[in-house]
Parts: sequence; structure tokens; C-alpha cells
Amino acid sequence: MATYHPHTPVLLQPAIEFLVTDESGIYIDATLGGGGHSKKILETLSVDATLIGLDQDPEALEAAKERLGDDPRLETISGNFGHLSTLIPPKYHGKISGILFDLGVSTHQIKEAERGFSFQEDGPLDMRMSDLSGVSAYDVVNTYDYEKLRDIIYHYGEERLSRQIAREIIDNRPIETTGELRESIENVIYGRHTIKTVARVFQAIRIEVNRELDVLKQGLQESLDILKSGGRIVAISYHSLEDRIVKNFFRSGNFEGEIEKDFFGNPVKPINVITKQIITPSDKEIKENPAARSAKLRVAEKVKEDEEE
Ligand SMILES: C[S@@+](CC[C@H](N)C(=O)[O-])C[C@H]1O[C@@H](n2cnc3c(N)ncnc32)[C@H](O)[C@@H]1O
Repeated sequence: MATYHPHTPVLLQPAIEFLVTDESGIYIDATLGGGGHSKKILETLSVDATLIGLDQDPEALEAAKERLGDDPRLETISGNFGHLSTLIPPKYHGKISGILFDLGVSTHQIKEAERGFSFQEDGPLDMRMSDLSGVSAYDVVNTYDYEKLRDIIYHYGEERLSRQIAREIIDNRPIETTGELRESIENVIYGRHTIKTVARVFQAIRIEVNRELDVLKQGLQESLDILKSGGRIVAISYHSLEDRIVKNFFRSGNFEGEIEKDFFGNPVKPINVITKQIITPSDKEIKENPAARSAKLRVAEKVKEDEEE
């Protein structure tokens, strides 16, 4: 890796204030990235604490290790947070005080043309956050049938011109580069909203390649298995579908958002919402870091043992 493009951590102050409830606790940063949030977590924790930093992108892990130095409180793990409970050593299970998910892609991933996330610069159609992802953007764009492409663009991109764009992509195959993909999208829509549409289609394909929504569900579910009672999940999402998954799970412990009731009609749930109001960046933060503009922070706490009946 030549240089790691710096990533400005989003909602840094509130994220850490909600996350750290015990300065000597054991914490997980499930999306280590460039280590921005982790740096602050380490500054907040005392000498006997532990922070486990996880990322599925080897370039992120390398950059974070360089940035955070050889702090004896930090352990780094390479892997996908969808397998959180397998990746975190069993000695920590049930002892974790807090887990941070800062979802989506890093500035580095977007800016590094070779990674194929960028529609601003030409690069190969890749978009895999880890070498282990099954399909690349090339496979999605060049092998998916019309219905599958249309649905991905519609659901994950929330793009109403999904039918026309899917048809145009298929007509232009093979599409080899991010520049060619962008051109196909621009053939359908040209004008004021082009950039937004291009961004939505790229986002949709990225979500498909990395199975981001399924993996998020797995990660949240597995968080509950390893948190201690009263331990917290802090999630920063950048996409309405991600946010809905987080919101429903924090509300009810399931992804439908339906709170189960016991025989007597009392609510039964493994988790309680801490942030009754959603937390978003200030105008000042968005001005300084436009990448923060769609961020939404939510916090929940694993039900404390004395609350369980
Ligand atoms: C928004 S960045 C995090 C930035 C970080 N908080 C910072 O301040 O530098 C998201 C990071 O999460 C990683 N990531 C996304 N999905 C992941 C997953 N399922 N498992 C592990 N890492 C993931 C990406 O590779 C990326 O490095």
C-alpha cells in the first residue's frame, strides 16, 4: 500500500461518550478503519483496559496499527464483523463493555482508484472490502440478470430509474471499469441529478458485493452474545436501510422491530435503546467533513441481569 488516505472520524465525541461506561473495560471497535475512533477510545481508557480493533480490510489494519503504535492495550483482528463471536477470543465472551460499528466505507477505500469504489476516478470494477468477498463489482455488473440488477439498484440504491439503468448496463456489457459503469448510468440520466444517481448505483453495487445488510444483521446479533449485561452497542450508519436494521434491532432485539410479549403481556427484549433521539452531525461537522452528512448514531444497551425476569 502506498499511502493510506486519512479518514476523519464521524460523530467522534458522542460516539466515545456513549461507548465508554467503564474506563477499565474491554471494548471492540468492529470497524477500525484508519483508527480515528480507536485513537480517542484509547485516550479515554485507563492503562488496564483492552481494545480489540477489527477490520476486514488488510490496508485499514496496517494503517491503524501504524497510527496507534504498539499500545499494549490494543489487539487487532482481521476479519468480518459478521463473524464477531468466532473472531473474538472466548476469554472475552460475556465481558465486553461496548462495541462500536462505524459502518460503510472509509475515505481511503473511496479514494484509492484501484479498489474500484470510486466513480470520480477510473479503476477496475472491484469494490470488495476484503479479498475474501465472493463476488466483485465486475461479477455483479457483468453476470447478474436484468431482474437481479434492477432490484439491487432499486432497493439498495433507492433509485427510481432502476429499470432503465439495469437495461442500459446489460446493453453495454462487458463493462470493465468504474468509468465505463459511470458512462452507462449517464446515458440514462444526464443533467442536474446525475451525480446523485451515479452515487446511488455505485452504492447499491457495493452493498451487494459486500453483503452489507446481511452482515450487519449478523454482527448485531452476535454482539449480544459477547456483550456483558449492561454492555453497549454504538452504531453509526450512513444509509437508510442500515439505519432501519439498527433501529429495529435496538428497539426489539429482532429485525422486524416487533417487541415480543410474555404470557402476561410484559415486553420481553434483550436490549434497551439509550438514545431516544437519533444523533446526527452538527452543521459545523458537515461543513468540515461532508462525508458525515448522512450519519446517524444510535446506542443501545444489553439488558442488565436484574432487569431480566
Ligand atoms: C467508515 S470506516 C471506519 C472508520 C474509522 N471509524 C475511523 O475513524 O478511522 C469503515 C471501516 O469498516 C470496515 N468494514 C466495513 N464492513 C465491515 C465488516 N463487515 N467487517 C469488518 N470490517 C468492516 C471497512 O473496511 C472500513 O475500514
